[in-house]
Amino acid sequence: MTTRTEEQADDPARVAAGEVPAAVVPGLTAGAVPPAVRASAGWLALRREADEEARDHGAGGLLDRLVRHLHECGAAVVRVVDVGAGTGANRDYLGPRLPFAQEWVVVDHDAELLGHADHRDALRVEAGAGDLDEVLAGLPPGDGAPTVLTCAALLDVLDRPDVDRFAEAVDRSGAPALLSLSVTGSVEWSPEDPGDAGLRASFDAHQRRRGRPGPDAVRMLRDDLVGRGLRVHAAGTPWTLDARRPELLGRWLGERVEAAVEESPEQVSALRAWRARRLEQLAGGRLDVRVDHEDLLVLPR
Ligand SMILES: C[S@@+](CC[C@H](N)C(=O)[O-])C[C@H]1O[C@@H](n2cnc3c(N)ncnc32)[C@H](O)[C@@H]1O
Repeated sequence: MTTRTEEQADDPARVAAGEVPAAVVPGLTAGAVPPAVRASAGWLALRREADEEARDHGAGGLLDRLVRHLHECGAAVVRVVDVGAGTGANRDYLGPRLPFAQEWVVVDHDAELLGHADHRDALRVEAGAGDLDEVLAGLPPGDGAPTVLTCAALLDVLDRPDVDRFAEAVDRSGAPALLSLSVTGSVEWSPEDPGDAGLRASFDAHQRRRGRPGPDAVRMLRDDLVGRGLRVHAAGTPWTLDARRPELLGRWLGERVEAAVEESPEQVSALRAWRARRLEQLAGGRLDVRVDHEDLLVLPR
């Protein structure tokens, strides 16, 4: 893990511009592994609206339960630790929906995303999701404010050891955790196309490359946490992609096809022909896609 230096954090102009973190965590100075593949800030901006809609429609009940739990704990202030925080979409969503004073800690292995202005006054920690236990242990004392762990669109990109370590950290923390928008692998196309199955097989194999759980991660984590005796509530938060969001749907389609081609280069012509058919439908406003996600709320024993 790395944090910015005190000198950088003390420069208010650079902090306000989001160029450097607003604070540092003393003692968290081991080197984070830089990401091999980066999430692009443009993509994270593009998906925000669909994410918010999916969470509003699917996961309001989880949020209500979390708020009830925090009220029962007598919380006035909460410390929210957002893992894989990217450019701060999860905070922008949750902040106004949590009726408590809040302090935010944002954790990501990508230093560039941690520098994003939307993180505002959050404490920024450059670390891997598998280091969550260590991150929590190194945070400054929180004046008794209960911790809430959260992530959004993270679990399906983790490798297996990180999923296991993340589960261990959630359990050890004793904190409630709201884990949002994990891809489950299920996608419904309307209209269907004979090439859907081939695309799906290659794409899913890409997600599971080198033993990664990919779309299985959320189920693995859920089973692990339930097995530890934690109370886990799940809710579906599908994206509905259609003519209302042509840019998001077009980019999502394109990235899916490129991942499938990387996995199955021998199928490049079939995959790109499939994409051409889908883009034509998209341009004509005739394509609807449902992309399933699952959200989990984990409450302590
Ligand atoms: C799809 S983005 C989601 C970002 C943000 N939570 C959102 O909802 O917009 C995944 C984020 O997780 C981060 N990430 C991926 N793998 C990680 C890991 N092993 N440790 C820490 N962060 C990771 C990426 O850098 C990226 O910011």
